[in-house]
Amino acid sequence: MIKFLTPLKMGNPILLQKANYVDNPSNSEIQDIVSNMLHTIQTIGERVGLAAPQVGIQKRIIVYRVPEKPLNSRYHLISDEFQKEVPWSALINPEIFPIESELESGWEGCISVPGLLGKVPRYKTIRFTGVNERGQVIDQVVSNFYARLIQHEYDHLEGILFPMKINDPSCFGYEEEIIAHLKD
Ligand code: NI
Repeated sequence: MIKFLTPLKMGNPILLQKANYVDNPSNSEIQDIVSNMLHTIQTIGERVGLAAPQVGIQKRIIVYRVPEKPLNSRYHLISDEFQKEVPWSALINPEIFPIESELESGWEGCISVPGLLGKVPRYKTIRFTGVNERGQVIDQVVSNFYARLIQHEYDHLEGILFPMKINDPSCFGYEEEIIAHLKD
């Protein structure tokens, strides 16, 4: 039975732990977790990614999507460079390899850090690998918003939340204030 998994918020120590590798990505337990994560994130709505530790599951599983255009004012700020639409997908045991050393700072939000946004440096272009819940190998090069999203979700598997990566603490605040007052 598909169920809603309550997201954990910053301050919960589970969010600071390293998640475990999944030994058998295509077994039914993992498929159930992926289904529940997809149900959860779709129920929350207007979101682009969720990592298993955010719902208290310490496994290296993320689900994400790339919408073809910004979902709301938060995403207008987060990305003006939306790319080709990617439907909701699961990625298990992801690995990330920067393609160039260039970092770009950009705004991020997180279900585990509700109502807040911060500017975080990320690699502009990455290669990422992993498998999906059907055991198919994924190996892709992505840039901009897509690359930022994968790096953000990957960090959750390492026990890292975006506020821990903010260079300039003045670039951290409440979403509605930032959206109202900043243009870049
Ligand atoms: Ni997050």
